[in-house]
Amino acid sequence: MFLNVNPTLFNIFCGCLTVCLIKYLFNFINRLRKLPSGPWGLPILGYLPLTKKDAYIQMTELAKKYGSVFSFKCGQFDVVVINEVKAIEEAFKNDHLLARPNTTFIPGFERASSLLEMSGELWKQHRRVALTILRNVGLGKSTLETKIKEEIGHFIDVLKSTHGKEVDFKEVIGLSVANNVSILLFGHRFEYSDPMGIEMCCNEKQVSDNVQYFSKMFMPSISFFVSLATQFSSVLRKMTNSQKEIEKKITAEVRKHKAKKATHEIEDYIDGYLQEMDKQKDSGTTGMDTATHVLSFMMLNLITYPEYQQKIRNEIRQTIGLYRQPDYADRVSMHFTMAFIYESLRISTILPLNVHRRASQDTKIMNFFIPKDTIVIFNFWAVHRDPNLWNDPHLFKPERFLSEDKQKVIKSPNLIPFSGGKRICPGATLALTELFLYLVSMLQNFQVSASEGEEISHEVKYAFLRNVEKLAKLNFHILTEN
Ligand code: HEM
Repeated sequence: MFLNVNPTLFNIFCGCLTVCLIKYLFNFINRLRKLPSGPWGLPILGYLPLTKKDAYIQMTELAKKYGSVFSFKCGQFDVVVINEVKAIEEAFKNDHLLARPNTTFIPGFERASSLLEMSGELWKQHRRVALTILRNVGLGKSTLETKIKEEIGHFIDVLKSTHGKEVDFKEVIGLSVANNVSILLFGHRFEYSDPMGIEMCCNEKQVSDNVQYFSKMFMPSISFFVSLATQFSSVLRKMTNSQKEIEKKITAEVRKHKAKKATHEIEDYIDGYLQEMDKQKDSGTTGMDTATHVLSFMMLNLITYPEYQQKIRNEIRQTIGLYRQPDYADRVSMHFTMAFIYESLRISTILPLNVHRRASQDTKIMNFFIPKDTIVIFNFWAVHRDPNLWNDPHLFKPERFLSEDKQKVIKSPNLIPFSGGKRICPGATLALTELFLYLVSMLQNFQVSASEGEEISHEVKYAFLRNVEKLAKLNFHILTEN
């Protein structure tokens, strides 16, 4: 049966449709012409179904074919990947590349954005407040360092109590480093046996281990279906539940802080936040896993190359000795130790594709056009493995960060694990302090080795963050004076 349609209206409708289609095609071709070149994908989905699990390796390979700045269509978005250090430095300075994608990290889970995810004025405001609070509670001053040293004291006691028996390092270090974030946020640590602390740590791990689902963020129009799938997928359900649990616990802590006297001093991040913003919490858990991952890579390299343990220990003997607890200030006279830390950050590159950015306006990088709302990826992996910047980039060689006479550490400008510019990681100083204090405290007290029969594997897993796949069980043998 045919509908009775007015032919004039039908012609007007068809005319409009044709004009829209031509305009869309014109814009599409125009954008495509202006964007940097790159691989073709499938209709509608673009390159999304062709992205591999280890996307950072794939992007580095594509850069060899299409050039150091290339683009592709990924789901509903244009994506530009920047793979070369000079271009990334230019991007760090570009104020039109400070925004984050508008989509959620965890599909199917709607919640208030954290600082990590915010864009525009809201991000600027929250970032300013976050930096002020971090300064007030002692980041870059000694208050927080004292508390971290206390935590490390507990951590070393736990390792001593193992009497050289096998230790699951990732587990113990995870709880200890999470405590530093708890101290920063809540003003107190959790006992390692405290179910609340263990649970928060597990929940955090659950979220970061599964966040590879973030690739769904490239298709926000299907987010409804992803939400629906969440109800049925056990992994997604676990992950969203874990995130909800973390938020519940932080809300409980915020409530506790609010119940304190109104005039109390700023002792931690939440105190500061409540005072500055007079509203509920900001970013809860960002940064909890990152330092733990780098420390796992460090341990892997300490057991693989025992000669580096010896070199660091020699430096400890020459500077602080075996009995005084190290201060972060000791780093200035511990050149090899710092070179070891820098090399660990390079080799681990735990955030190989950065946290994605979005162009808030049409802009340019190295004369390549980047239209508004393009997702922009800085490929730190490509920079940290660039053979033009590093000799034998795949090898672990701390000496590369030493001066020719091996007497001074030189931090290369090509080492950019914390990103750069106005959105640089605000936790970089805290992370470096942790890495230095944990490394030196462990080697001051113990000779570390893989347990007998344990295989030392350099396999890595990647789900947003890179991590050692399976760290061998370790033995911590207590050192004596000789
Ligand atoms: C070795 C350890 C760490 C590494 C390699 C690291 C790296 C990064 C990177 C690459 C970014 C994204 C920057 C960008 O968008 O360009 C970032 C953001 C961020 N990091 Fe870290 N981070 C580490 C530890 C920490 C710690 C300990 C904290 C907690 C205080 C922290 C808090 C944050 C926050 C809140 C953001 C979001 C900042 C924003 O979007 O404005 N990070 N980090």
